[in-house]
Amino acid sequence: MNKVIAVDGPSGAGKSSVSRIVGSRLGFLHVDSGALYRIMTWQALKRGVDTSSPEAVARLAEEVSIECRPENGAVTFWVDGFRPENELRTPEINAHASKVATVKEIRAAITDLLRGMVKFGPLVVEGRDITTAVFPDSPARFFLTASPEARARRRQKEEVEKGIASQSAEEVKKSLLARDEMDSTRKYAPLRKADGVFEIDSSELTLEEVVEAVVAALPADWRKPKVFSAGI
Ligand code: DC
Repeated sequence: MNKVIAVDGPSGAGKSSVSRIVGSRLGFLHVDSGALYRIMTWQALKRGVDTSSPEAVARLAEEVSIECRPENGAVTFWVDGFRPENELRTPEINAHASKVATVKEIRAAITDLLRGMVKFGPLVVEGRDITTAVFPDSPARFFLTASPEARARRRQKEEVEKGIASQSAEEVKKSLLARDEMDSTRKYAPLRKADGVFEIDSSELTLEEVVEAVVAALPADWRKPKVFSAGI
């Protein structure tokens, strides 16, 4: 099977930035599995599905078809020829995504999609259940954490940079902690630190330091040797 680097952790722990950089450094495609749960949530809201009804949400697993395409170092997701991006990052989606992610049928469909992506090449996959349920046999599994304050600060900075900030730092923190609580206590594939994963607390580390820690912990033959030009 192709190589898979699995990265789990709560919201705002730095998974996306770290996974993207590690992926581009090693030539592994970046996969944001949270975007798939957000797509299901976006579709639920668009179709007027009551997200507190597991039966109604479960039907989306059959009805929504997500196409996956490798593009520019990442696996991108498309629904009916459209690639949703900022549409997935609204406070409304934030508020409903954890509920949608509790539904067994949705998790099974997304797990299948993620496992199928190994055909595209080596992957770095980030999420909540990648180390425990989707790719539990990967020899490169990581659990990223950070203090709630550091996580809320980063999430809000990200939203400001994307021009989609609509909440105060305090509101961002509240919504992030509510999501973490639901993600960690749900019945199917909850967020948890599995035995044998490499844990990194990024609260006091720079992004570059976290990337270095991840790369250093990979199996030796997964690390691409740096190529230096002689400059002649
Ligand atoms: O990482 P994120 O905030 O974009 O994730 C959106 C939601 O999906 C969040 O509630 C956690 C959930 N999720 C999950 O249950 N399993 C994953 N592998 C990835 C995300």
